[in-house]
Amino acid sequence: MKPLAERTNELKQSNIRAITLLLQGRDGINLGQGICDMPTPDAIKRGAHAAIDADQSIYSHYGGIIELRKALMTKSLQYNKIPVSSPDEVMVTVGSTGAFVAAMFTLLNPGDEVIVFEPYYGYHANLLSVMGSKQKFVKTVGPEWEIDFDHVESLITPRTKAILVNTPGNPSGKVWSRTELTRVAGLLEKHDIYAITDEIYEYMLYDGREHISLASIPGAYSRTITLSGFSKTYNMTGWRLGYAVGPEAIISKMGLLSDLIYICAPTPLQHGVAEAFDMNDSYFTEMGEAYARKRDLMCTTLEEIGFLVPWPQGSYYVLADFSPLRSRFDGFEDDMAASTTLVERAGIGTVAGRSFFDKDADGASCLRFCFAKEYPVLEEACRRLRAAFL
Ligand SMILES: Cc1ncc(COP(=O)(O)O)c(C=O)c1O
Repeated sequence: MKPLAERTNELKQSNIRAITLLLQGRDGINLGQGICDMPTPDAIKRGAHAAIDADQSIYSHYGGIIELRKALMTKSLQYNKIPVSSPDEVMVTVGSTGAFVAAMFTLLNPGDEVIVFEPYYGYHANLLSVMGSKQKFVKTVGPEWEIDFDHVESLITPRTKAILVNTPGNPSGKVWSRTELTRVAGLLEKHDIYAITDEIYEYMLYDGREHISLASIPGAYSRTITLSGFSKTYNMTGWRLGYAVGPEAIISKMGLLSDLIYICAPTPLQHGVAEAFDMNDSYFTEMGEAYARKRDLMCTTLEEIGFLVPWPQGSYYVLADFSPLRSRFDGFEDDMAASTTLVERAGIGTVAGRSFFDKDADGASCLRFCFAKEYPVLEEACRRLRAAFL
């Protein structure tokens, strides 16, 4: 048979699936995948039920229903301080992943270069590869994940088309500062490049940190596509609703592409979210406090066991370094061995560090833990980890 398309050659599942299989039958707890299995807010569920009952079942406009775009415009102005001036600068998509796909198709020709910060979110890097883009990696190291902007600038060539920002970051938990974002904005202008910024964890912030959107930095909006969504903030990863905000000239092309690929995001679910996603401030405060408690439990437990832990500044992951455990236990030779050892000895699933780096060796001594779990489940996971490794 003729070979499949070349773009599929490098595609492979990270160790997530293998670990999920290993966990089955052991009554394991999966802290690997970034799935928040808390309930979706009732108001959103009621809104979707009502829309289904009212037969809101047909395709919507490819950019999403106008009520939701208007609500997102208001949210982007108020929370993100992005200077959006029309709902045409907002589009609703099939998850923020759908928005990322549309953004890449809109901006990138094969061979175009994109600056990507490591550790990265695997979907970003893998999708960029499928698109035929060339990634230029900038490595950052915890706990501060500082960026060497001289190095970033040295990687920019005439083929550089975009910089990819993810704040708060998965898996680092880095929350980009205003100073850093201002440096990025300067590069966009100076080198005539675009930014794609994934801000899906925008409400998960610790130690009083503030979420700053790149597009709110003066001068940046005209070159920036901001991606976000409902999956994480409202515990609804499976609904597949996200959105993009940006200059109309870009968003209108992204809408046409999204139309070709998805036609539209699920209509009744758009209505459900439009009804209710504008929650009271207390919803966000309580969510932030709940995640802060979970972060404390997760990070304290890992530190007690001996991991080196860069406490996340935002998001709900921690990328912890297990090298100090090597001298005390077998099975920690590298990240793949360590993730298997955690399943076998504690029934805990994690993601191997190599999933977040271009070169496997760069992630060989770390594992990613996701603490978006109900508190008692996380407590039980931490109890098992202590029992196995203290
Ligand atoms: C950084 C980042 N962006 C996007 C997504 C996926 O978002 P969505 O469900 O809106 O497609 C994830 C999910 O883990 C993520 O970590």
